[in-house]
Parts: sequence; structure tokens; C-alpha cells
Amino acid sequence: MSEHILIGIAWPYANGPLHLGHIAGAYLPADIFARYHRLKGNEVLMVSGSDQHGAPITIRAAEESTSPEEIANRYDQQFRDCWQKLGISFDLFTTTSTVNHTEVTHDIFLTLLRKGYIYRDTMLQAYCSRCQRFLPDRYLEGTCPHCGFDKARGDQCEVCGRPVNPFDLKDLRCYLCSATPQFRSSEHFFLRLSAFQKQLEEWMSGQTCWRRNVLGATWKFLDEGLKDRAITRDLDWGISVPQDGFDDKRIYVWFEAVIGYLSASKEWARLRGDESAWQPFWRGEGKSFYFVGKDNIFFHTLVWPAMLLGYGDLNLPYNVPGNEFLTIEGQKLSTSRKWAVWLPDYLERYQPDPLRYILSVNMPETSDSDFSWREFLRRNNNELVATYGNLVHRVLTFTYRNFDRAVPAPGDLDARSQELMQRATTVMRTVDELIYGCNFKEAINEAMSLAREANQYLDEQSPWKKIKEERQASARSIYTALSLLSALKIVLYPFLPFSSEKLHSLLGFDGSLREVGWEFQLPEPGQKLPEPYPLFAKLDDSIVDEENSRLGIVSGE
Ligand code: MF3
Ligand code: ZN
Repeated sequence: MSEHILIGIAWPYANGPLHLGHIAGAYLPADIFARYHRLKGNEVLMVSGSDQHGAPITIRAAEESTSPEEIANRYDQQFRDCWQKLGISFDLFTTTSTVNHTEVTHDIFLTLLRKGYIYRDTMLQAYCSRCQRFLPDRYLEGTCPHCGFDKARGDQCEVCGRPVNPFDLKDLRCYLCSATPQFRSSEHFFLRLSAFQKQLEEWMSGQTCWRRNVLGATWKFLDEGLKDRAITRDLDWGISVPQDGFDDKRIYVWFEAVIGYLSASKEWARLRGDESAWQPFWRGEGKSFYFVGKDNIFFHTLVWPAMLLGYGDLNLPYNVPGNEFLTIEGQKLSTSRKWAVWLPDYLERYQPDPLRYILSVNMPETSDSDFSWREFLRRNNNELVATYGNLVHRVLTFTYRNFDRAVPAPGDLDARSQELMQRATTVMRTVDELIYGCNFKEAINEAMSLAREANQYLDEQSPWKKIKEERQASARSIYTALSLLSALKIVLYPFLPFSSEKLHSLLGFDGSLREVGWEFQLPEPGQKLPEPYPLFAKLDDSIVDEENSRLGIVSGE
């Protein structure tokens, strides 16, 4: 029976370009999962969108003397271009600026208010009398009480990574004009998170199969005790608060961004002409998976579930396979220090599948993992090209030249060839189970092991030598090899969709892999093959120095 799989991916702030950390942390694993489930014949709804509100956007706009709209639209366009080029196959990528999103947010806000899960209270907020405005945490700067860094922001210190409370910053100043702010009392709405403590503990106790890092992070918050949180801010950029007297305030960006999963699902249903199509993904047997980086875990395993419990009649997350961080050359990515590999830059210069490959085999699933250009080059040349690409190319060109541009008839398979065919079936099942359980790194390694075994098999059989005297034996091993390629195109499809589709047609099949499904599709003897071309290109050594110098690393260092 087919399942309904909702895949939500953390909504990227539309205030700057995407980098490899975003991709390895959330978008790539989600896309692998989505492509896999579609091949399995399940109903998949993969959604996300640009997170267009909040201080990250307004600060960027102020820095560039432009409007928040301009910033949000610019990066929204860039994101869409990146998804298309990298093959991140959204069913809907939208934004938090739609009318629909405001409506769904207001509905949730008002329902929670009516049920008593949202209440009014006052809180102290920093106010700059020179700028004549309230200052959200990110608009405050001062000296970190933990490490002494003198440009820590009011929400966290970038150097020591600790969260900070603006009251504790020494030498506190306005980020915009450097004046010393005062604290003024202001009325706000609060989410009664504390009311959900017990229910969330019970729910979490049942999640024994979640990743250990996600469980650990979530239990840490539960053990400390959940505190109510302000969900409105003194700002003029964001979603309005549907209550009188709150005209100069907006809904806090995190409160509405997580609602995006629901509003996007509704938008998708409407676009497809069936207003209720979102429901099977959110109710009953529907399973929801949220792919997020580790800094977003709290909002997805506690805040959003609390909101869903309060609202009622919608499923809580089935799993939140949060990833750890990707480092570059051993150092934490930092947008402000420009220590990052930007996705648009990568996509301008290289193919998508090599990046998908290296980030999959080296995914920061259970611990941080590192990206370096030297390693990128090595894995591209020695693994992707040498193990997989060359295998495909030598089998296809040999068949094309020696068997009349068609799949040869194998005759009876010998024991060794049967063993390989059996192995392909096993690998298909193992990869299936691994991806199902969100073990992506192990899954691609298992898939690649089939390519290595196919190489061994060919070395042993050497059909290239047998073609003259033992044509039938040559045909038999070539047929077996073509079959293994046909299994590889499936097990590697979630990871390397572009090359798998190419391989599918290079093997002489019509249509797209979506129509094949998760099946070991055997080539028919006599099936015509198109002229082969290589799936991947070897990269020149010089790219390492070239890319490192873009990062500011001097060669030889
Ligand atoms: N925009 C946030 C960030 O980049 C993530 C928001 S995830 C959502 O960290 F679910 F709230 F949308
Ligand atoms: Zn100021």
C-alpha cells in the first residue's frame, strides 16, 4: 500500500546565498529521501520556501541601503535557480510572503489564543532613542560575557557560539548607530510552551528510533523545563498580529516560519486543484519528516509539535533527522567571515552530481564532517570517475562496438554471473532499507560497493579478451555487467539523479526512471543502445589551488 510522506525542509532565510553547509545539512538528505520514496511508489509532498521575515532580512537590507522586499526577492530567485540546477526536487518551494501563509498563520495564532495557549504579557525590550525604535536581539551588540569577544550580538556570540541574553552583554550598544539603548516595557504575546511539557515528554519517550543527536538535544531542553516564549516583536517587517493595538508589532519570525510547512501544503493542494489534497499528509497514517540542521532542532522537535498539539487534529513529526555541521577545511562555516563555499559559485563551475556524491558519502549525519577541495577532487577522480563512471563507459563502449550496438543475448548464466545478479538484488534491498531509515551515508556506500564488485567481476571475466575466441562467454559477462548497471542506476538515483537518468537511456531504455520504480529492470537482449558518452569528467589538479585561493587559502599552506 502506498504511503503519504510529507517532507519539510528548514526554510532558508532569504538574506544571503546558500552554501554547502545548508545542502549537506538538510536539502540533499531530504531530496534523497523524496526521490527514493517516489521510486517506491509512495505519495511524496516535499515543501519549503524562503523565510523572508525577521531581523536577518531587515539587517541585510539596512546594510545595503535597500528594502527588505528587494533582499527577500533577490535571494528567493537565487534559491529557486539553485534547486533547479542541483536537482532538489520540491513539490512546492514558496515564500512566507504569500497571502495564504498569513491566513494560515492567523488561523493558528487565533486558535491557540482562543484555547488559552497564547497569552498577553509585558516584557522589557531594548529601545534606541537616537534611532527611535525598539531593537530586536540581533540589533544589539556588545562584549560577550563568556569569551570577551567585543562584537557579540544580542542573541548569540559568533566566536564562542554560546547563546547570550542582551542584558548580560557588556558595553551594550545599538548595532545601527552605536548609541546606548535603554530597556522599555512593551506588551507582547507569549506561547505557553510550559503547558506542553508533559505531553511532549510522553511523545518523545516513544521516539526511540530517532537519531541520537536529535534525541539528546531535545531531552536537554525538556530536562531544563520548557519556558514560555514571546511570539511577537516590536518590528514593522513581518506578519501582522491579528489583535487590536498591535499595529506596530509583528509575529516573531520563528513562530510563523514553522507554520510554513502547513501553509505550503495547503498552497500546493490549491495549486493542484484539489483543496483537500494536503490532508492525507497531515492526518491519519501520513508520516512527516523534517530535515533540519542541528541549530534548528529545538523549533522542530518542541516548538512546532507544541503548536500542533495546541491546534489539534494534525500529526506531530514522525521523524526529525537533524544533521550535524559541515566544516570547511576543519573550520566552522561563517557567513560574516566569508568562510564558505557558496552554492551558486559551485553550480556555475561544476556539475551537480559530483557535489551530491561527495556530500552524500561524507554526510554529517552522526558527527560533523569536513569538506575540502582536495578531498572533492580526490573523490571525484578516484571514486566517482574511476569506480563508477569508467565502469559504465567501458561496458557501454565495448558493447556498442562489439555487439552491434545492442544488448547481447547472454545464453545460460554461469554460477559466478548468477552470484552477481543475486548480489544486485540484495544491494537493492539493503539500500532500500537504509534510505527508509534515513541512513543515507551507509546507503550510498552500499550502492558504490556494487560498482566495485562489478569492476572486480569484469577484471576476472575480461570479456575484452574473450571476444575473439569465446564470444558467448564475453556476451554472458557483458550482459551481466549491463544488468548490474541497470541496478546501479536505481540505487544511485536518489543520490545522483542526473547521471542515473542518463545511464537509463544509455542502456537503451525509454522514458524516465520515475516510471520504472524501485525495480531491478533487466535489459532485453537485442535492445538497441545509443552512442555512449562519459557520465562524469575527471577534474584537473589545478582546481584545488584555484578554489582554495577563492577561500583565501594560500597554496602550500
Ligand atoms: N530560516 C531559519 C534558518 O535559516 C530556519 C527556519 S526553519 C522553519 O535558520 F521551519 F522555521 F521554517
Ligand atoms: Zn541606534
